[in-house]
Amino acid sequence: MLKVVVCVSGGGTNLQAVLDAIDDGRITNAQVTAVVSNNAGAMALERAKKHGIPAIVLSPRDYPDRSSFNGAFTRKMLELNPDLIVLAGFLVKVPAETVAAFDNRIVNIHPSLIPSFCGVGCYGLKVHEKALERGVKITGATVHFVNEGMDEGPVIAQKAVEVRQDDTPETLQRRVMEQAEWVLLPQVIDDIANNRIFVENGKVRKEEKEKI
Ligand code: GRF
Repeated sequence: MLKVVVCVSGGGTNLQAVLDAIDDGRITNAQVTAVVSNNAGAMALERAKKHGIPAIVLSPRDYPDRSSFNGAFTRKMLELNPDLIVLAGFLVKVPAETVAAFDNRIVNIHPSLIPSFCGVGCYGLKVHEKALERGVKITGATVHFVNEGMDEGPVIAQKAVEVRQDDTPETLQRRVMEQAEWVLLPQVIDDIANNRIFVENGKVRKEEKEKI
């Protein structure tokens, strides 16, 4: 059984998608053992509690400097000892020491087709504002492994979503969530939990289920 820790900062709709998929069997061999948030007011924490999952607050604000937060975050992750860390709208940069301790065991969901509209400062609604500004006709979501960079680790899966002429950042964000993020993240967790994802030479290979 894959032990999953989900890190969140806000609404937690991606967390909810994962919990729902575990409940209805779209994700097998996995359980969420803790939810960690840097934001004590995150709705995501309520979603965790409703599910009887430990909800932990760990914020850089509660530490004198970034390196003490980084140490505390890494120690907490080692103590929770997950098989997989899922960043589902987690707005804090994961410390390099955590990345080193959980090599290829941290995944992030980003609401664009990486390498478009990603990197430092490109998160939340800003991603969709940039997509609309650029006038792209297709956008989507990406799940990738996390390395020391920002949105730079090996891509695991992507799903495209159509941009409509009358989209606002808000309508586009909602469609990307509904059509891509909430579908893709559970699929990837199920793939990892069932040993279908492999990293080779910095690239991800997916072993498809045997076709009958
Ligand atoms: C999602 O768009 C996710 O891709 C991004 O932050 C947002 C989080 O939304 N990284 P939620 O907290 O899961 O509702």
